[in-house]
Amino acid sequence: MATILAVETSCDETSVAIVKNRNILSNIVASQIDIHSQYGGVVPEVASRQHLETINPLITQALSEANLAWPEIEAIAATVAPGLLGALLVGVTAAKTLAMVHNKPFLGVHHLEGHIYASYLNDPTLEPPFLCLLVSGGHTILIKVEDCGKYEMLGTTLDDAAGEAFDKVARLLKLGYPGGPIIDKIAQNGDSSAFKLPEGRISLPEGGFHPYNSSFSGLKTAMLRLVQKLEPEGELPVADLAASFQETVGRSLAKKTIKCALDYGLKTIVVGGGVAANSGLRKQLSQMAEKHKLTVHFPPLKLCTDNAAMIAAAAEDHFNRGHVSLLSLGVQSRLPITQVMTLYK
Ligand code: KG4
Ligand code: ZN
Repeated sequence: MATILAVETSCDETSVAIVKNRNILSNIVASQIDIHSQYGGVVPEVASRQHLETINPLITQALSEANLAWPEIEAIAATVAPGLLGALLVGVTAAKTLAMVHNKPFLGVHHLEGHIYASYLNDPTLEPPFLCLLVSGGHTILIKVEDCGKYEMLGTTLDDAAGEAFDKVARLLKLGYPGGPIIDKIAQNGDSSAFKLPEGRISLPEGGFHPYNSSFSGLKTAMLRLVQKLEPEGELPVADLAASFQETVGRSLAKKTIKCALDYGLKTIVVGGGVAANSGLRKQLSQMAEKHKLTVHFPPLKLCTDNAAMIAAAAEDHFNRGHVSLLSLGVQSRLPITQVMTLYK
């Protein structure tokens, strides 16, 4: 058991949290969405500047909400990879400085390992091994979780990440940024069987299809063709298009995830990342899992998207195992989750 203060600044949310024994004592998230939505996506320089302005007040607020002072914090953590370099640098510099000033250990955390740990915060009885479907703005991967820091990659996307596909299709339908939550909302009023769309199967050189890899480029092109065909005919049936798209993404991800869990004999599936908030994916995966007697864990909506509590939870587990990072550890824009242990000395 340890009390960890963690900082998350890998993209467009500034967040500071304190977690103790997988309990959230505070988890403050300052979203920059309103600022970036004017530009239709995240502007890296603007993100860094915003992190810089908000980080110090958030640290003070996280301590005060948890009703704790520095002597009670045992280690300080920050997301070091993957993410926008300038954005990561703000959080990591703040965390390292505090670690030096208060003489505490520093832990660098892999952002995707944090998304996996969001489910541990929600269910303290969850234990590896399990299969994790990690679907965010930058990643769509299937990972076998063996233990803290021990991961095997079983599937990935060959082009866009699931969240990226949601954001691009929302732009095509002129719905604004970030696309995922907006499509999810509009899809509630649409007919998901209105348009038949391709699921995106990956052919293998030896014939057949890759069972666990995804591709969203064919689906995106199909949406573009539909919009080009329907636009001259009058007002776009946006709700039906959104519902059909969401249904296709959900079905494609759910099928691959279930097949992977069954093939690897994993009875538990954990979903993480921003797209884990998607109601279509939640429904389809839950239904398919029930049919195959598999258990699925979805974090609560607030813990699906980026937050520092999940980073603190991952750091706590590493800290309990004696893993700490060097203060010279740098930020990295890319780092496979299979290389998490390179972050610790
Ligand atoms: O995990 P996250 O907060 O940040 C990254 O690490 O990328 O994920 C952000 C992504 C965005 O692409 C956003 O559109 C998507 O998650 N997202 C959703 C939903 N909420 C967020 N996608 C589909 N349905 C949602 N309800
Ligand atoms: Zn994320």
